[in-house]
Amino acid sequence: MKNYVIDDLPDYFKQYKKSIKNPKKFWDKVADENFVWYQRWSKVVDYNMEEAKIKWFKNAKLNITKNCIDRHLNERGDKMAIIFEPNDPKEEAQHISYSELRDRVCKMANVLRDQGVQKGDRVCIYLPMIPELAVSMLACARLGAVHSVIFAGFSANAVESRVNDCGAKMIICSDGSFRGSKSIDLKGIIDEAVEKCPTVEKVLVVKRTGSEVKMKEGRDFWLEPLYEKAASDFISVIMDAEDPLFILYTSGSTGKPKGMLHTTAGYMVYTAYTFKNVFNYKENDIYWCTADIGWITGHSYILYGPLANGATTVIFEGVPTYPEPDRFWEVIEKHKVTQFYTAPTAIRALAKESYEWVEKHDLSSLRVIGSVGEPINDEAWHWYNDHVGKKKCPIVDTWWQTETGGIMISPLPFITPTKPTYATLPLPGIQPVLMDDKRNEITGNQVDGNLCIRFPWPGIARTIWGDHQRYKDTYFTAFPGKYFTGDGALRDEVGYYRITGRVDDVIIVSGHNLGTAPIEDSVNLHPAVAESAIVGYPHDVKGSALYGFVMLKDSGEDRDRDNLRKEINNVISDTIGPIAKLDKIQFVSALPKTRSGKIMRRILRKIAEGDFANFGDTSTLLNPEIVEEIKNEKI
Ligand code: WT7
Repeated sequence: MKNYVIDDLPDYFKQYKKSIKNPKKFWDKVADENFVWYQRWSKVVDYNMEEAKIKWFKNAKLNITKNCIDRHLNERGDKMAIIFEPNDPKEEAQHISYSELRDRVCKMANVLRDQGVQKGDRVCIYLPMIPELAVSMLACARLGAVHSVIFAGFSANAVESRVNDCGAKMIICSDGSFRGSKSIDLKGIIDEAVEKCPTVEKVLVVKRTGSEVKMKEGRDFWLEPLYEKAASDFISVIMDAEDPLFILYTSGSTGKPKGMLHTTAGYMVYTAYTFKNVFNYKENDIYWCTADIGWITGHSYILYGPLANGATTVIFEGVPTYPEPDRFWEVIEKHKVTQFYTAPTAIRALAKESYEWVEKHDLSSLRVIGSVGEPINDEAWHWYNDHVGKKKCPIVDTWWQTETGGIMISPLPFITPTKPTYATLPLPGIQPVLMDDKRNEITGNQVDGNLCIRFPWPGIARTIWGDHQRYKDTYFTAFPGKYFTGDGALRDEVGYYRITGRVDDVIIVSGHNLGTAPIEDSVNLHPAVAESAIVGYPHDVKGSALYGFVMLKDSGEDRDRDNLRKEINNVISDTIGPIAKLDKIQFVSALPKTRSGKIMRRILRKIAEGDFANFGDTSTLLNPEIVEEIKNEKI
């Protein structure tokens, strides 16, 4: 187990050095000693960073559900695998033991197989945060189908483009979902999407809200009756190390969403290893990550990482402020949560409430608290540290991405001294490098640059589904031979990393990754809009909010501007989802453009931020006079 658990700071440095000097040997040991395999690998890693071809544990055979469920049954059959905390605190929590989880997953896998799903088929899952979501994913993995979870807040259009991109044969959805005081008609959204999804043969519907839904004969099936009569045994399918496990869509700075493909063995090894160490996981802990399973955080650190360690993981259906703004604290107290992992946006929102909401609850079970998704600002860090961690729980500020599969840079609790707003040090096996714009590596400390990673790690996504060229172009060409993260970072005097934010056109709103281009495309669909430019500006709860500069086809003087703003946001809601709605919309008579026709977003960003002092070099602008107008009319 020596390569699996990091004991203290000297041990971290020792392991880190070892892992960099000989990554093959390091990961070979981790994989060999901590998982069950049908067959060992013939080679630990095979890679070509120029071609973006990466394989880990070549020719190994395994099934991830054997590692996440079956192998725990002897010692931990009755131990809780999942605690489900419903949206409504009056509804009883569900405790699902490892042996019950095994039965549920087997039954579900049998249902899927009976409905025609086979190894390699894609299954889209559009479910709220209920146990069936986890069970569906694991059932896919058990039979070798590739799951693609679509966050159940996305619109019909967004669902349709994802389902068609991966060519899913089946969609698993529910009648509806509960979120705070609202209930949402998920089946209606699927009905609309699936009309334009020719590859979908079956829609499996989980009953959650009990609301009335339409069922299409021959296509739509309620899960319950099928599940009731399914056998509770299912021999897991033997998978190759590099067989696809799942596809998860993430926004790019341009074009359609990227279907990041994660494969089986490397992803399993990496999420399990990082979970154990970053959360200082111990046998009787109750671990809770508040993310939605529809994002990578949920895949890696609600489901696969914790279950691979035989942990108890909480699945929470609700929202932080329902019925009151102490819901998180109440759940921590109720289930005696030991590790709590959430996002800066949630921390900032809750910090706005009186801290009596926190004081009301006994949070003494907590040992480690974590943050993920965007930079955590100083104020939020301290509030989290003082009021939630009571200055005794280390904060793990974990930096990583959908593409990286697992946590890359993070303090190790009780080992790495934390520093507010710093993700601190790379985990073993991870080699961050800072690069300047001329593709030179920046060495030494107290420097900043583009954050790249030098050597592959087991959890890295292997490709973009159906578009390897785009994968190569996006991540491996800007800095040849290295993986480019799209983030900027600085390295302080002791070598700690601080992520400074995106250096491309991705804006992170409330922890959600949004590309500006798809939102602009969406705004431009409105019949009155000629052109638009979206930028981010600082927002005290969301981190960044969206500011749209919109040029209309006619002067728009005779229109009701507020109404137009609403309509534009409705188009965004319909085509992407409510999360991408613009906070501010300013109508402009033209956009500042360079002579080559590129919108100068840098200036728009400054205007949106209210920083009029220094627009930098505007000499390449074709229409400099417009800057003044936009500035004067800023809202
Ligand atoms: C982007 C990736 C990682 C799971 C959730 C987001 C930003 C993520 C941090 C952090 C500063 C962070 C980066 C990254 N980010 N964690 N601790 N500090 N920035 O996954 O949607 O793929 O977004 O989130 O900009 O590139 P994602």
